Amino acid sequence: MKTKHPTIILCVAMIITSAMFLVNFTKAQQKKINREKPAAAAFVEDVHSYSNPQETRVRHVDFDWTVLFEKKILQGTATLTVERKSPLKTRLGYLKLDTRDLNIEKVETSSSGKVFTKTQFNLGAADKILGAPLTVTMPSGTSFVRIHYSTSPTASGLQWLAPEQTAGRRTPYMFSQAQAIHARSFIPIQDSPQVRVTYSARVRTPKNLLAVMSAEGNSRTSARGGDYRFKMPHAIPPYLIAIAVGDLQFRSLGKRTGVYTEPAMIEKSAFELSDTEKMVGATEKIYGAYAWGRYDLLVLPPSFPFGGMENPMLTFATPTILAGDKSLVSLVAHELAHSWSGNLVTNATWRDFWLNEGFTTYLERRIIESVYGKPRREMEATLGRRSLEEELAGMETRDQILHVDLAGRDPDEGFTGVPYEKGALFLRYLEETVGREKFDKFVRGYFDNHAFQSITTETFVDYLRKNLIAQNPQVLIADVNEWIEKAGLPKNAPVPQSDAFQKVEVQANNYSSGKIAATAVQTKNWTTQEWLHFLKTMPQKLGATRMAELDEAFNLTKVGNSEIAFQWLLMSIKNDYRAADARLEEFLTTIGRRKFVKPLFEELVKTPEGKNRAAAIYARARPGYHPITAASVDTILQWNK
Ligand code: BES
Ligand code: ZN
Repeated sequence: MKTKHPTIILCVAMIITSAMFLVNFTKAQQKKINREKPAAAAFVEDVHSYSNPQETRVRHVDFDWTVLFEKKILQGTATLTVERKSPLKTRLGYLKLDTRDLNIEKVETSSSGKVFTKTQFNLGAADKILGAPLTVTMPSGTSFVRIHYSTSPTASGLQWLAPEQTAGRRTPYMFSQAQAIHARSFIPIQDSPQVRVTYSARVRTPKNLLAVMSAEGNSRTSARGGDYRFKMPHAIPPYLIAIAVGDLQFRSLGKRTGVYTEPAMIEKSAFELSDTEKMVGATEKIYGAYAWGRYDLLVLPPSFPFGGMENPMLTFATPTILAGDKSLVSLVAHELAHSWSGNLVTNATWRDFWLNEGFTTYLERRIIESVYGKPRREMEATLGRRSLEEELAGMETRDQILHVDLAGRDPDEGFTGVPYEKGALFLRYLEETVGREKFDKFVRGYFDNHAFQSITTETFVDYLRKNLIAQNPQVLIADVNEWIEKAGLPKNAPVPQSDAFQKVEVQANNYSSGKIAATAVQTKNWTTQEWLHFLKTMPQKLGATRMAELDEAFNLTKVGNSEIAFQWLLMSIKNDYRAADARLEEFLTTIGRRKFVKPLFEELVKTPEGKNRAAAIYARARPGYHPITAASVDTILQWNK
């Protein structure tokens, strides 16, 4: 055969090369676009869910809810779009969902999503921790399930506040808190964080109230009307579905940030949170673009059981961070950081909770460093490590492990300082071992590669091996294993250094040893963190007299800052400092944040007399507490509901 003309060969080669380039380019583009479609997400055993996503997986939910304040219930429908494994599509199958205390009225299925037909369902026996499995029969070809239901007035994931329990005292209020496994108390859903869903919602409320959700569609105007629509276009785990309804007002904080709260709190909230926009920018600089569009906050009534909850696009926050001086805004940095660690890359099960909280606590401190400087970061990191050490001293070894085994237990039991502070120290150890530049690149790559996925600790370790350890052999896999799978703090755990705190310690020791009087303690320009460190450095048994001296010098019983007040009240109980009694009672009957309430009651019940006081206070406080906080205190006081 004759050789073809060279130009033809060249042309063919060029066509092939450009075609290959095009294919690759399209693949890359698709990868980018498709990264939200959790490609046949691998199934992981989740001991906290009855659901069966390995066979039949919920992909999308449409809610239609009416918020009934008189009955304290949500009533309506959840229409689930379900994906069935291919052989199952053409056969009769079952969808298993999680529920808790739901009243299921009717279940329907559909193949088109338009015409629905009644189907059979079975609500199994309720487990104390997990709730009850709901099994829905899915006839051949159906892929939509509509559940008509209502919640219980005591749903563990909702709190219903009477007008008197709000700042405005005129209108009722309702809010949800789904993490870890409370979504099932207001949504029949596959309540495992490995199941990611998009959602839309229509919410009907009394005309004068505003509904907001962890989604697009939150109103930024003063218009009301009682009919609201929302859309969450990104696939999120069920524990991030959130709603609140009340007399809410919006105030802009920046071009994509803002705050919702009751009118009486809007001024104070806007002042306190005014650095939010800056924080978003600072985080993006290190970890890549913010993926969710807007970042707003909702400042809740004081019964909110947590400091904050990272509901996507709308962080829920306790009003106890409103200190008046922005000193407690590391909470905002924390919840914002979850927009990467937690909401973008999510723990697949509650065993892997440290992936959410350890990364987030590490990121939180990086944001604080970037916005407020290294000294502030080191103060907060020192407080974090100190409280972890104290907690570890009295903790069962099985709970000291990052990759904790929670089988047979409430995932709430994994909510300790370990996933947060030990997790953050582990990441700081990696940063210090390989250097910040390399570590930042690694973490950014980790977020990009697992965006909109739910992953296990094993997946993380695998990624760490290939993308950090392989290039940096000074990180030993044995050390990594010790950090993740063993109890306690490894010897190589970083020790944060704060010059400011060293000065505080000198003052604290001078006072507690009797060298100087309370009035001689140099507290000028002390920040909240320095005050906290000072108080925490005092001996456990300081004695009521020394407490009184401190109080006289610094008015600590009257202090408004919630963190300082909490620390002071804890010391007051320990030292039988009775001048703080009234403040303690006021604190416990107005604030429902579990992190404060629980340790105070735990300390009170240590003496017979304290037990009586605790019971008297609790009888008054309990009606105002969120179900989550109440459940914790019930256990401490052996309270019979
Ligand atoms: N996601 C958590 C809150 C949470 C965890 C609720 C597990 C239910 C189960 C949130 O991001 C958080 O960690 N909040 C902390 C504040 C933070 C500054 C450490 C809190 O509420 O104390
Ligand atoms: Zn968190």
